[in-house]
Amino acid sequence: MGNLINQIAELQDYAEFADLHWSGSFEDYLEIVRERPQVTRTAYQRLYDMILSWGTDVLVDNKKKLTRYRFFDDPMGGGREAVFGLDIPLMRLVNVIKSAAMGYGAEKRVILLHGPVGSSKSTIARLLKRGLEHYSRRPEGALYTYEWILPEELKHITGGETVFPCPMNEEPLRLIPEEWRPAAFQKLGLRAGDQNLRIKGVLNPACRLIFRELMAHYSGDWSRVIEHVRVKRLVLSETDRVGIGTFQPKDEKNQDSTELTGDINYKKIALFGSDSDPRAFNFDGEFNIANRGIIEFIEILKLDVAFLYDLLGATQEHKIKPKKFPQTDIDEVIIGHTNEAEYKKLLNNEFMEALRDRTIKVDIPYITRLKEEVKIYLKDFTNEKVQGKHIAPHTIEVAAMWAILTRLEDPKKHDLTLLQKLKLYDGKTLPGYTQDNVKELRKETVREGMDGISPRYVQDKISNALVSGRSETSINPFLVLNELAGGLKQHSLITNEEQRKRYSELLAIVRSEYEEIVKNEVQRAISADEEAIKRLCGNYIDHVKAYTQREKVKNPYTGQDEPPDERLMRSIEAKIEIAESRKDDFRREIMNYIGALAVEGKKFSYDTNERLHRALEQKLFEDQKDSIKLTSLVSNVIDKETQEKIDVVKSRLIRDFGYNDESASDVLNYVASIFARGDARK
Ligand SMILES: Nc1ncnc2c1ncn2[C@@H]1O[C@H](COP(=O)(O)OP(=O)(O)OP(=O)(O)O)[C@@H](O)[C@H]1O
Ligand SMILES: [Mg+2]
Repeated sequence: MGNLINQIAELQDYAEFADLHWSGSFEDYLEIVRERPQVTRTAYQRLYDMILSWGTDVLVDNKKKLTRYRFFDDPMGGGREAVFGLDIPLMRLVNVIKSAAMGYGAEKRVILLHGPVGSSKSTIARLLKRGLEHYSRRPEGALYTYEWILPEELKHITGGETVFPCPMNEEPLRLIPEEWRPAAFQKLGLRAGDQNLRIKGVLNPACRLIFRELMAHYSGDWSRVIEHVRVKRLVLSETDRVGIGTFQPKDEKNQDSTELTGDINYKKIALFGSDSDPRAFNFDGEFNIANRGIIEFIEILKLDVAFLYDLLGATQEHKIKPKKFPQTDIDEVIIGHTNEAEYKKLLNNEFMEALRDRTIKVDIPYITRLKEEVKIYLKDFTNEKVQGKHIAPHTIEVAAMWAILTRLEDPKKHDLTLLQKLKLYDGKTLPGYTQDNVKELRKETVREGMDGISPRYVQDKISNALVSGRSETSINPFLVLNELAGGLKQHSLITNEEQRKRYSELLAIVRSEYEEIVKNEVQRAISADEEAIKRLCGNYIDHVKAYTQREKVKNPYTGQDEPPDERLMRSIEAKIEIAESRKDDFRREIMNYIGALAVEGKKFSYDTNERLHRALEQKLFEDQKDSIKLTSLVSNVIDKETQEKIDVVKSRLIRDFGYNDESASDVLNYVASIFARGDARK
């Protein structure tokens, strides 16, 4: 037993514990401030520095240089709450925080995250809160507060307590009266304009009263008063309600301003004989407890009118007004979020105008890049995480693809399909389109990313597909697409038939794209016979060489010299749409390429040229398709030899593309049926 306890106890970090529980005199604290003035940063400065402390990357997107903040990858949580694909909105958000940190005015506004439902607004707010908690525990993020220590004979001042913590966790330097501060900071050797030293505001009502009483007791000797102050490290923690607050509006009738600014402590009124004695007050409203850190307003626009003024004061003046007390200074980041629907509803509400005027709106749209959207679902649905059910390749991808399609606006250029636009956004290249075109495409949109299907819907449907009993062992794209389609009927956010119809049509587009993807994969698996490809490639090159040099080719069987085989060459080139008129150029390119490689001492092989590789695969597939008799899968009568060939293809699907036995069979059957259809059409 004891041994087990010891093993757990070993996990404890004593040095950290000691650090986080540091306490000392006011004098000690002044030493700390002198050495590390950053301990006195404002809440906005600390938040900004916290974000930067995780590092940044420079990113070039469409020729524009962007800053990526690694903090949003959630390094603290090992990526559990990472935010994907929103580099630009996040950069805007950090710029607002930066401006607030510099004191350029943004600190007098509510930061309002605004976007469609499920666009990661709450996730971002949660990250910021956790980031601050974490930072406050690190040496570079340390901050301090104080408590009053009174001997027996003076404890009547606090109503009988010998230790009275500052109820709002204030910065200890506030104990230096405002009018002395400039001179005092100079004495400390701190430059007056030091960015890190912007101590504003006065003590909260309770501490002010204690301060005054002690001053009276010591006949105005500040140095004696300050001997009763013990400074201590402040560790922010949402669960302990220290420095991190969250306010969630409940139903309108139940809202009461004491939730934000604190309430009278009725038990203590008798002790002090008055309900306006600050010592008989609980400074435990959300604004109070969030002091020094951050307060998050969930669904900020649902806030009752009665609260609005508290919020406006807190924002504009950094002051709150507890019941029966004068204005009290606060230092905290105020961030709210609201979804699109709620925002629209209040757009014309005069009453909210006052609030809107004091907010900086940061749009948090949906992701419009397929790669990034896929990452959301891979957080929960990978074959490692989902036990007992295999997720067939492309299952997540097609779901994400559909989600993105619902969010994209139709391109104005009509020769571009929505799916092509998706691919361009995803970084794929399309003939005839440049980076500049992609930029134009993004520019021409009006509110792209603010409408469409939310990741939450897709998450729910994937998980439905996983638990529904249709297959005991695996899920595949069709199951998920069916779930996605089925849910549309009851989707509460789809209000009109037209939209429903459009979303269904987009599902059909995704289905046919999936068909292309698997056809391609099966083709590649069939032709993934390296020896055969090498042989075909060697053959092709021999003929091309002879063709370009106007020579003959020796026929390996007859030993005769023959002219280059035009049919062979064309049958390969046609696979990648090399027109008859372009064939000479293409052949010359290939020969030049081989020549260039030779100069570098490198040898040409079929997989050094992507296009040629593809062409060879397709040709090989065509040659082998009939010998494999894939279509016989459909008729269910398979001879032993065909079965062996099919098994080889299956094992390649498993080896190269991530299938398992079941999903590989499914996909082969499916592709066989497509080919059977095609053959029938011919
Ligand atoms: N860009 C994104 N990166 C990572 N995850 C995302 C992203 N967008 C949405 N999600 C995921 O979608 C889900 C919903 O996110 P969240 O609750 O943060 O959205 P929200 O904007 O607060 O929604 P609501 O408006 O409904 O409150 C979460 O599981 C989140 O991880
Ligand atoms: Mg939310």
